[in-house]
Amino acid sequence: MDGNFYTGRRVLITGGLGFIGSTLGRRLADLGAQVILVDSLIPEYGGNLFNIAGYEDRLRVNIADVRDEFSMDYLVRGHDILFNLAGQNSHLDSMTDPYTDLEINVRSQLSILEACRKHNPAITVVYSSTRQIYGKPDYLPVDENHPLHPTDVNGINKMAGEWYHLLYHTVYGLRVTSLRLTNTYGPRMRVRDARQTFLGVWLRRLIDGESIEVWGEGTQLRDFSYVDDVVEAMLMCASHPSAGGCIYNLGSPESISLADLARLLVELNGDGTYRLVPFPADRKRIDIGDYIANYARIRDELGWQPRIDLREGLRRSLEYFRMHRQHYW
Ligand SMILES: NC(=O)c1ccc[n+]([C@@H]2O[C@H](COP(=O)([O-])OP(=O)(O)OC[C@H]3O[C@@H](n4cnc5c(N)ncnc54)[C@H](O)[C@@H]3O)[C@@H](O)[C@H]2O)c1
Repeated sequence: MDGNFYTGRRVLITGGLGFIGSTLGRRLADLGAQVILVDSLIPEYGGNLFNIAGYEDRLRVNIADVRDEFSMDYLVRGHDILFNLAGQNSHLDSMTDPYTDLEINVRSQLSILEACRKHNPAITVVYSSTRQIYGKPDYLPVDENHPLHPTDVNGINKMAGEWYHLLYHTVYGLRVTSLRLTNTYGPRMRVRDARQTFLGVWLRRLIDGESIEVWGEGTQLRDFSYVDDVVEAMLMCASHPSAGGCIYNLGSPESISLADLARLLVELNGDGTYRLVPFPADRKRIDIGDYIANYARIRDELGWQPRIDLREGLRRSLEYFRMHRQHYW
């Protein structure tokens, strides 16, 4: 990725105080971009002002809700790039409160795109999609041509959000790229509970000296992306001349069962235990089983490769949360 590309660029990040958005914002500030972070700081989600500690002078923050069409109409103006990351991310919450998920992950996405079409059609947009839209895989590894059959409301809504983005590319020529993220982890992720990802709460329990709970037999396979690698992929998508209109999976060369992941974490922590517990029924109903992404397309077309392996990424994550636990617990 050509780092100079971002010097002086005007960049808007929705969800910019969240885990991935803030990491992206910090990196963009280092690259010399002029960045505005838009975030509603809804308490149950991952937004956290501490995520931009040390960068307060270099990142502008606008506390706004993407559901507010009038704010978004105004905010998209004058920007070169929009990284569209604001989202309701809890699969379980999407089942108990489907309408909030619909409002944020679908309706707001449409109004953000409308704001771009009307007020800034030259903007480049990168949308953070998710592997959840594939549902329970028909085959592994899952490539971008795999059928989409999500297992929960969140997956359906994120799929619709992605398709609106792609539609605005084909119909209106908006330069849009969709990245289908797999489990992303690292410093600044939400660890308060298992609402978004089990890995967050595992890190927290381990640091607190509590046993990690692995659901089921722990045999489910997952692949994980370290947040800096995800940020790099986003930067590549917005800067690469041929990424417009494309969908890319992110993934990892390593896949791991959840029980092995728990063992690895205990080893890296130097202490701790894990135990298998029955899968909670509400989770089991929407579980996708094993998932491994095929990320050959982004590797071959944009040259993206994960750089941080799981062991190193988990080590950095444990170190970060041990140091800053008061801001995340
Ligand atoms: N973390 C992952 O493993 C993962 C996997 C697949 C996809 N994604 C996608 O990546 C994006 C970022 O995820 P994250 O892990 O950083 O989550 P996060 O919860 O840390 O960040 C999302 C941010 O969006 C903000 N937000 C939510 N609703 C908003 C609204 N209505 N208006 C303004 N801001 C709002 C939240 O306050 C939060 O700061 C999401 O769109 C998510 O669907 C993440």
